[in-house]
Amino acid sequence: KTYRIAVIPGDGIGKEVVPEGVRVLEAAARVYGIGVDFEHFDFASAEYYQAHGQMLPDDWFETLKGFDAIYFGAVGWPDVVPDHVSLWGSLLQFRRHFDQYVNLRPVRLLPGIVSPLAGRAPGDVDFYVVRENTEGEYSSIGGKMFEGTDREVVVQETVMTRQGVDRILDYAFRLAQSRPKKHLTSATKSNGISITMPYWDERVEARAEQYPGIRVDKFHIDILAANFVLHPDWFDVVVASNLFGDILSDLGPACTGTIGVAPSANINPEGTFPSLFEPVHGSAPDIAGKGLANPIGQIWCASMMFDHFGEKEAGAGVLRAIEETLAAGEHLTRDLGGTAGTAELGAAIAERVLGQ
Ligand code: NAI
Ligand code: MG
Repeated sequence: KTYRIAVIPGDGIGKEVVPEGVRVLEAAARVYGIGVDFEHFDFASAEYYQAHGQMLPDDWFETLKGFDAIYFGAVGWPDVVPDHVSLWGSLLQFRRHFDQYVNLRPVRLLPGIVSPLAGRAPGDVDFYVVRENTEGEYSSIGGKMFEGTDREVVVQETVMTRQGVDRILDYAFRLAQSRPKKHLTSATKSNGISITMPYWDERVEARAEQYPGIRVDKFHIDILAANFVLHPDWFDVVVASNLFGDILSDLGPACTGTIGVAPSANINPEGTFPSLFEPVHGSAPDIAGKGLANPIGQIWCASMMFDHFGEKEAGAGVLRAIEETLAAGEHLTRDLGGTAGTAELGAAIAERVLGQ
C-alpha cells in the first residue's frame, strides 16, 4: 500500500524542520519497502493569511480528508496574525473536524540529552501520555452574569459523555496491551471534583473488565504530577481528561529535556479521517530563518506516523536512528550543545536510517 501524506510546514522553523522530516521519511520508506506519496500545501501559514485573509481555503476539509495522515510543522507568526486566529483558524479546525480525539505524547529519555530528572538513565523513563482531545473541561458551555457589577459570576461546564470517555480509555488500554509492561495509570481528582471525576473512575473500572491482562492504577492529578518528576519509572501508559492531559503532556516531555525533540500525534484511531503528526514546539520566531532549529521533534513525528500506520519496524528504525545519532554526540544543533545546523542533523539521521 502507498500512504498519501499531506505535508503542511506552516510558519517559521516549521519550514526548516519539515523538509528534514520528509528526508527521513523517504529514507525509511525506501529501506523498509513502504510506499509514500507526499503532497505539499502552503496554507496554515502567515503568508497564506496575508494573501487570502484567512488561514485555510474554504475547501480544506474536502482537500485533506482523503489523506492517510497530515505531517504538520508549526503555525503562528504573531507579527502578522494574532495567535488565537492562527491556531483556531487551522490546527484546532483539523483536530475537531477530523475527530482526532486522542492526543498522544511519548515521554522518553533519549541518550545524550541533559534531563532535569537527576540520576535517570535512558530506559528508566519510557511512557506515553494519552490525552482526551475533544470534550471534558474544554467545553464552550457556560456564561457570565451580572457583568461589571460586584455580583459578577462566571460558569463553565465540564462535559463527559460515555462514548467520549470510553473511546479514549479503550485507546489507552489497547496501547498498554501492546507494550511489555501492560500497565495503565488513570489521572483523576475524584476527591475534589465530585461528579465528573467519579464518573471517569467508574468508566475506568468498567472498561478494565474488558482488558484482564492490564494492571490498572489511578492517582489524583496533583500527586501524579509530582510523581512524573519523582518516579517517572512508575509509568507505562497514562490516560487523562482534556485538562489534566494538557498539563501532563507538557510536564512529561519537559522532564526529558529540550522542547526541540518532543513529538506529538493527534489521532483519529478509526481512520475515518487523517491523523495529524506535529512536534510539540511552535514556530520559534526568535531562531527562524537561520537554520538553527533542532529537527528531531519533527523527525520523531515520522516515527509516530509509521507506528500509526502499523509499520512498526520503520517506526522503530527512525527512533533508533535518532537515538544513535544523539548517543554519538555528532552533528548536534545548538540547543543540544553542538554547532551543527538543521539540515546537517537531519542528514545525519537519514544516513543512519539508510544504513539499517
Ligand atoms: P516555541 O516553541 O516556538 O519557542 C519556544 C522557545 O523554544 C524559543 O526560544 C525557541 O527558539 C525554542 N525552540 C522551539 N523549538 C525549537 C527547536 N526545534 N530547536 C531549537 N529551539 C527551539 O514557542 P513560542 O515562542 O511560545 O511560540 C512561537 C509561535 O509558535 C507562536 O505564534 C505560537 O502561537 C506558536 N506555537 C504553535 C504551536 C503549534 O503549531 N502546535 C505550538 C506552540 C506555539
Ligand atoms: Mg498545552
